[in-house]
Amino acid sequence: MQKPDFNIEEVNKIIRGRRSMFVAQFKENDPIDDAIIEEMLENANWAPTHKLTQPWSFTVFSGDGLVKFADFQANLYKERATKNGNFIEATFQKFKENPLKASHVIAIKMKRDFRANLPVMEEIAAVSMAVQNMYLTASAHGLAAYWGTGGPTFWPEAKEWFGLGDEDMLMGFFYVAKPATDSWPEGRRKPIEEKVEWVKG
Ligand SMILES: Cc1cc2nc3c(=O)[nH]c(=O)nc-3n(C[C@H](O)[C@H](O)[C@H](O)COP(=O)(O)O)c2cc1C
Repeated sequence: MQKPDFNIEEVNKIIRGRRSMFVAQFKENDPIDDAIIEEMLENANWAPTHKLTQPWSFTVFSGDGLVKFADFQANLYKERATKNGNFIEATFQKFKENPLKASHVIAIKMKRDFRANLPVMEEIAAVSMAVQNMYLTASAHGLAAYWGTGGPTFWPEAKEWFGLGDEDMLMGFFYVAKPATDSWPEGRRKPIEEKVEWVKG
């Protein structure tokens, strides 16, 4: 294969310009074409992966599928919170309504392949890189998107609902929508110099 003709200025621009945008910034009832979501997923599939285990997999909710997911997480919240005596109606409503404000919600799943004998850290890292590829693709399309790890992410019942085994992991949800405005969020980072130690000679 011939060496690709990459454009470093474009790469820097998209990596540094990528942003999270949250539900409050979503344009509701204006779905994104599935083709764009497929492009995001295709790019996710090109993440690096030790021993080629490709531990990422995804469940994409759109249309009435969003209602299915919203009802599932709201009802599960209700069941768990009622049992624990800490049910809050507003939280229940948020679980029921937030997915419907997105165009697509993508459940992020990590599936273990024990034949590869890899530490779990490596598989979580590979899935995270797949999510970064989705993030970059969404931002390049000017879309609003974020990775959320709230709600059912850490609930064992949700893991089961998604057909994941004990050693697999539900790693959260990637919410995607068209943005409600043209403005783009400012980035906030401490300088890289504070996080790097060089050893030269
Ligand atoms: C593993 C992971 C989990 C996250 N979970 C949440 C979350 O549960 N809720 C949320 O609002 N943002 C979540 N985020 C997004 C961060 O809030 C966001 O990346 C941060 O504010 C920096 O903004 P930026 O992505 O625009 O640079 C998560 C990000 C990562 C990498």
